[in-house]
Order: sequence, then C-alpha cells, then structure tokens
Amino acid sequence: MEQVLKFLRTIDRVIITGGSSGIGKSFIELMSKIEPSLQICNLSRSESERFLDWPQLTHFACDLSRPEALEGVVPDVLKWLERTGSGRILLINNSGYGLYGQFTEIDREAQLNMMDLNVRAVVDLTHRLLPALQASGGHVLNVASIAGHQPTPYLGVYGATKAFVLQWSLAMGVEHAGRGVGFTVLCPGPTESQFFQRAGFDQPPVPGMGHSAEFVVNRALQGVARGRAVVTTGWMNRLTTAFSRRLPLSWQAAISGAVMRRMRLEQKQGSSS
Ligand SMILES: NC(=O)c1ccc[n+]([C@@H]2O[C@H](COP(=O)([O-])OP(=O)(O)OC[C@H]3O[C@@H](n4cnc5c(N)ncnc54)[C@H](OP(=O)(O)O)[C@@H]3O)[C@@H](O)[C@H]2O)c1
Repeated sequence: MEQVLKFLRTIDRVIITGGSSGIGKSFIELMSKIEPSLQICNLSRSESERFLDWPQLTHFACDLSRPEALEGVVPDVLKWLERTGSGRILLINNSGYGLYGQFTEIDREAQLNMMDLNVRAVVDLTHRLLPALQASGGHVLNVASIAGHQPTPYLGVYGATKAFVLQWSLAMGVEHAGRGVGFTVLCPGPTESQFFQRAGFDQPPVPGMGHSAEFVVNRALQGVARGRAVVTTGWMNRLTTAFSRRLPLSWQAAISGAVMRRMRLEQKQGSSS
C-alpha cells in the first residue's frame, strides 16, 4: 500500500470511464480513500448515487459506444483538465461489457456496440487525451481481461476485444517508453460486479472463485505503482493464463470452448429448473 500511496501522490488528476459501478466505482472509492486530494473525472452513462455529494468528483454523462457522443464530451474533459491545474494525469479506460452465447444467437447490433465501447472508444479517447497526458506526464491504465489471453468461444467477440486491448496497450507502452506516459493493462478474472448480469448470465459462472472489485483494484494500483506492463489479478488467473500460453492457439480455443460450453449448459439447466 505504501507504494500505491507514493504513486498516487505523483498524480493530481484521474480520468476514468465506467466509474458508476463495479471495478470503476471501486477505483474511485479506493483512490479517494488513499489520496483524498485527487481530482477525479468520470465518464459513463449514469452516475453512482454513492458519489453524488463528492466535491472532488466530476461526472460527465456519456455513452462512449457512440463516437459522436465521445467526440462531444472531450471538450468538457479538456476544460476540466484546464480547471484542475497542471499535475500528472492517470487515464483509466475501464468501461466495457461482454455478451455470452452462440455468435448467431446474440444480436448483431449489440455485438457491434460492444466492439465500439470495448475497442473504438478506448483508442479514440486515448488518442484525444494523449497530448494532455504528454504535456503533464501521466499513465494510462487499460482494463482488458483474462479472456484476452486466448480465443473464447461463446464470448468470442468480447474475448477478441480484450485481446485487442491487451496487445494494443503493450504496443503503446513500448512506443511511449521514456516519453513521460506509461501504459499498464489490467487482466482481471471473474470479478463481482454487474458484468455477468449484462453478459447474459443468470448468476456468476464460477461462484466462490471470483474476486471482489476491491481486490482487483488494489492489485491493479500496486501493478501500476511498480511500473508493470501487465497486471493479471490472482494467482489462479496467472497460473491458468501462463499454462494456456504454452499451448498452440487451436488447443487454447478448444479447451476454452469446452469450459464455456459447460457454463452455457449449466446456465440453461439453471434457468429451466
Ligand atoms: N467483472 C468481471 O468479471 C470482469 C472480468 C474481466 C474484465 N472485466 C472488465 O472490467 C471492466 C469493468 O466492468 P465491471 O466488471 O466493473 O462491470 P460493470 O459493473 O457492468 O461496470 C461497467 C461500467 O461500464 C460502464 N459502461 C457500460 N456501457 C457504457 C457506455 N455505453 N458508455 C459509457 N460507459 C459504459 C458502466 O456505466 P453506465 O452503465 O453508467 O454507462 C459501468 O460503470 C469492463 O471493461 C469489463 O470488460 C470485468
């Protein structure tokens, strides 16, 4: 925690997406607890009631899956940056969701919307804000998933969006090395949040195996403070992704397909009983 406090003391402003619930909300809660002087700006469609009277938190309502809405909110964020001084900036690209099921059974528009939020918005927002980060110095924390480490049948589009975030973030880290802006990509496993409900699960697929959002955020901030390029949360997730990486991609797909198919069957049985 000492290291996280030291890191957060080097940061003055935080721009986060998806701070209204789950992991994003926990980021805001934990960072404000550790360093109450941080100015935080949240971009999401709704605002958490928890933060309504927090003077250090500014909320801009925005549907980031709509490119024109993102473009429209950026001037507000830049004005907020002007108002809040010239200190270092932490950008956390966290908004995202998954959709679970057979590819052809999931609504086409919904899958394209997910790609727009999980991929397009991350690249677009980072590109628009990087000049400010480069001017003040800072760090970008991108939230991917362990699903980005291998092909994920039945979460195929979601896993591919997170593979994009993982690879792109690592590439950005190398491109920007020594230029005042660091990059870290966070790969959580199953985490308690609204994620599974929105993804189409009746209940979290691995009850008892997931982490709390607080745990994930703690590990993420520790990783950023240590200058890690990738943070995979929890030893079990690190072990399974390390094991999976040693297998040919086609094997990874087959094994992950068998696991996901089983979840799908269990979900179906669960919902019919
Ligand atoms: N929970 C897990 O098991 C898990 C595992 C690995 C990775 N992740 C990743 O962690 C990130 C956070 O998810 P979570 O688990 O905290 O789920 P969550 O509780 O559902 O939170 C998702 C956040 O994204 C925001 N969001 C959704 N659609 C948006 C849109 N169109 N425009 C702007 N913001 C939008 C939501 O805010 P509004 O609804 O107010 O817009 C909410 O704040 C996601 O990128 C997810 O892929 C989650």
